[in-house]
Parts: sequence; C-alpha cells; structure tokens
Amino acid sequence: EQIEKGGYEHFMLKEIHEQPDAIRDTYRGRLLVKEGIIRMAGIDDNIEKFINADKITIVACGTSWHAGLVAEYIFEDLARIPVEVEYASEFRYRNPVITDKDVVIAISQSGETADTLAAIKLAKQNGAFVFGVCNVVGSSIARETDAGAYTHAGPEIGVASTKAFTTQITVLSLIALKLAKEKGKISNSNYRYHLQELELIPEKVAKALLSDEHIKTVANTYKDAKNCLYLGRGYNFPVALEGALKLKEISYIHAEGYPAAEMKHGPIALIDDQMPVFVIATKKGHYEKVVSNIEEIKSRAGKIIGIVTEGDVNVKNLADHVIEVPETLESLTPLLTTIPLQLLSYHIAVLLDKNVDQPRNLAKSVTVE
Ligand code: G6P
Repeated sequence: EQIEKGGYEHFMLKEIHEQPDAIRDTYRGRLLVKEGIIRMAGIDDNIEKFINADKITIVACGTSWHAGLVAEYIFEDLARIPVEVEYASEFRYRNPVITDKDVVIAISQSGETADTLAAIKLAKQNGAFVFGVCNVVGSSIARETDAGAYTHAGPEIGVASTKAFTTQITVLSLIALKLAKEKGKISNSNYRYHLQELELIPEKVAKALLSDEHIKTVANTYKDAKNCLYLGRGYNFPVALEGALKLKEISYIHAEGYPAAEMKHGPIALIDDQMPVFVIATKKGHYEKVVSNIEEIKSRAGKIIGIVTEGDVNVKNLADHVIEVPETLESLTPLLTTIPLQLLSYHIAVLLDKNVDQPRNLAKSVTVE
C-alpha cells in the first residue's frame, strides 16, 4: 500500500496532486488546439441527438452531482442548451418528464452507483438517449448507457472524490465547447480561446498546488471550528457546495455551501467571530458582487478566507486569509478554485487525526439504495 501511495501519506493527497496529469490524460487525443477540433467519438457518432435535444438532464450523486452543476453553467452559457441537474435518487422516483427528444447524461466515478444506474434505466424506458461520463472502464453504468466518454483519471482510492471531480468537469467542458461550436453559438475566436485556456489548465492546477504549505497553516487556524460556510456565485457556486462536502466527509465538521447572495436569506444569521467563511472571489465572475458579500460577513465579525485570483488586492484587504489561484476563463475557474478547498479539507482532517482515506460511515461506491 505504501508503494501505491507513491510517497504520499494518504491516497487522497496523492490523488489531489495527480490532478495536473489526470486532466491532461482526460483531454489527450480529444483536444486538438492547433486544428481547433474537439474529437470525442461518443459525441461525434451521436451529434444529431445532442444538437436536436430539447434539453439535457444530468443525473448523478455526491461529488459527481456537483460536477453536473458546473456543467449546467457551461452548457447553458456556451452551448445555449437547457440543462436540468438532478440527484439520481430523486429523479428515479419522481416521474420526471423525459421523452425521446431528451439527452440524459449520467456522471459517475465508479460507474456502479445504484441510484444513478436506476435513473439511467428509467431514462432509457422513456426513450431518452443516455450518455455516460464514467471513470471506471467497463463499469455497469458505462455498459448500460448508449454512448459515453471516460474521464481517464486513473484509479481513485480515497473515498473523498478529488481527481474524479476535476476530470469530470474537463470532459463536460469539452462536450459543451464541442456542442457550442456545432450549434454555432460561440464565435470562432472565443472557441479557440477556450481550447487554448483548457490546454493550460494542468499547469495552472500545478501552480495552485504550490500553495499547499500555506493552506496547511490556514487549516491549522480553523481546524477547531464547529461549523463552516462556503460561498460562491455562478460557476463557483457548485465549487462552494463541493468544498463543504469535502470538509464534512473527512473532518466531520459541519459545513454548508451556499450561493453567496443567498446568504442574506438565512445563513447570515449564523455568522459570528466563531464562523469561518470560505469565499470564492476570483476576478472573473461577479467579483464586485462577491466583494460586497465579503463586506457583509466582515461587518458581522465572521472569519473570511478568500479564494482569489493571483495578485488580488481588494479581498486581501478585507479577508483574514487569502489563497491565490492562477487566472483563467470564468468557465474554467472551478478547475482551479476546487484545488485549495480539497487541500484545506485534507489538512484539517489530518490535523484532527481522522481517517482521511476511509472516513466513517462512507463508502467509495454506493451499490445499494
Ligand atoms: C459516494 C462517494 C462519493 C461519490 C458518490 C457518487 O458517496 O463516497 O465520493 O461522489 O458516491 O459516486 P460515483 O461513483 O457515482 O461518482
């Protein structure tokens, strides 16, 4: 097992650090920047289904559901296709409106999650075209779907999902960009710009990982918190949800993710000097709005940890701590802002002496209802 961990103390840490390579493996052979082409057989062979779809419904559980939420923003923003994102466990029992004009995308790291598998069966019964985004090759979901794209993240052992999440977002970004192009919804220059920026993501993730030591210090400051709040807007709202989930899963600290502007409709009542608030406040993506949310937290004495773009000044002046990530396109920021939140949860759990790779009550793959 020590050998498998490749010198890292835990699988989770290894998998966090594998993300630059994992993302590169995900787009290898698919993202042809010079040619301006995205090549994905599962999409190419079924392009009419996607182009003519009334809507895309994404079904998933856990972290994969969060990747689906990020995809909703990118599909709607770039490809202008309406998207619904559903918990597979809800979808399967609620008589959803699905027809043969629908595309259903099932996202699953393991490809074995029972609820997601049942959701796929229901979608197929209703005539939908079902596309899988799985990591495990030959898994049940990969076999049950009409077509699909693997994430190629390599084995993920840590129960808390990390590289599966960022590689799922990578695959879904490729699909969204491809459809945006096919449907004529994106200008050539913007399309090219997206391809170039996507290709740069692995090195930017590697740069974000360099904050590890600093993040450890931040983790040490907040490890004894009883409750934490995670806030983000737009593309980074799902990242806030994922950040909170990571903390809950492995440190057993209660955490909630919220859209930053919704804070005033409830969570703001919880804020006092005992409440760390992790705010994703990158330059691209409602920056001024998020800064005013940060001011609201500050005036209530909440502790602010900002995830900011390199060189940020405003948030630095307001926050107790900031963690920088490189700049990229707004639609790709989740791939970077997720990284410090994974590391924060990891370090907090280690400092609290928790079982990072196998947290209590959780399973890597949930094959029963
Ligand atoms: C379990 C795992 C999570 C995972 C979820 C969905 O709860 O602990 O890490 O996100 O299942 O799993 P899947 O394999 O379908 O992505």
